[in-house]
Amino acid sequence: MSQNPNNRPVVQVNDVRKDLKMGQVTVKALRGVSMEVKRGEFLSIIGPSGSGKSTLLGIVGGLDTPTSGTVLIDGVDITNLSERELTRIRNEKIGFVFQFFNLVPTLTALENVALPIQFSRNRKFTPQQRAVELLQMLDMGDRLHHRPNQLSGGQQQRVAIARALANNPPLIMCDEPTGNLDTVSGALVLQALRDVQEQTSTTVIMVTHDMDLAAQADRVLPLIDGRIVDEVDPRSTAQMRALKELREERERQAAEIAQAEA
Ligand SMILES: Nc1ncnc2c1ncn2[C@@H]1O[C@H](COP(=O)(O)OP(=O)(O)OP(=O)(O)O)[C@@H](O)[C@H]1O
Ligand SMILES: [Mg+2]
Repeated sequence: MSQNPNNRPVVQVNDVRKDLKMGQVTVKALRGVSMEVKRGEFLSIIGPSGSGKSTLLGIVGGLDTPTSGTVLIDGVDITNLSERELTRIRNEKIGFVFQFFNLVPTLTALENVALPIQFSRNRKFTPQQRAVELLQMLDMGDRLHHRPNQLSGGQQQRVAIARALANNPPLIMCDEPTGNLDTVSGALVLQALRDVQEQTSTTVIMVTHDMDLAAQADRVLPLIDGRIVDEVDPRSTAQMRALKELREERERQAAEIAQAEA
């Protein structure tokens, strides 16, 4: 394994399993997931609903702990940290972008972006100034003082991306970042993410069930039933088509089961 911190993968996931108990029933949400994410890479994880994408993202992001296995972020094993240490890692190393934006409704765009900098007491940045720069980078310079309900969905998501970048984390994690947007706004948000990633050489992990979205990443990992199946080259249309057919087949099966149960 490389000891040079610049060559070290930003994320190393080793045989992560997650059992979720629901009363008497145990769902094996993750069944031994291993993966590495290189610095500056844009990785997408694709899989049908219920395949474990959000569970995996939550564990990699330190929001949840695995039943077994380890997760290293920037070489630090986060699976045995105290809540306090974990909070610090999350604050410094990881920016999150969720499907439903999760902005503070009473704060302006600028205040939403400045907030994590104020929380982290990050002396590298002046919160206001940094927030303005990031919002300008995301083409939101003319909406600094708007509150979330005065912004479109796509604009809110760009504010959320600026907020995720606030403390200049090495890693951005996105869960269905365009899931709540129409096609055009979604495409703009994805473009903004790609631009940001190229300009700041941030590493991005995005989970989605949308094939067209996933295909725009540098690398695509399919997650099915809690397992990573073969890696897919997003430029290989044949592979992407096959995966799409697989997903559609699963959706058909699920619909049939749902219908039979109804
Ligand atoms: N708190 C929980 N308790 C029990 N089971 C859960 C819990 N959360 C999720 N699960 C189950 O774990 C599996 C994985 O869920 P997860 O949310 O990771 O899927 P997903 O791939 O993100 O799906 P989607 O595309 O619908 O968001 C599912 O079968 C789900 O029903
Ligand atoms: Mg999910």
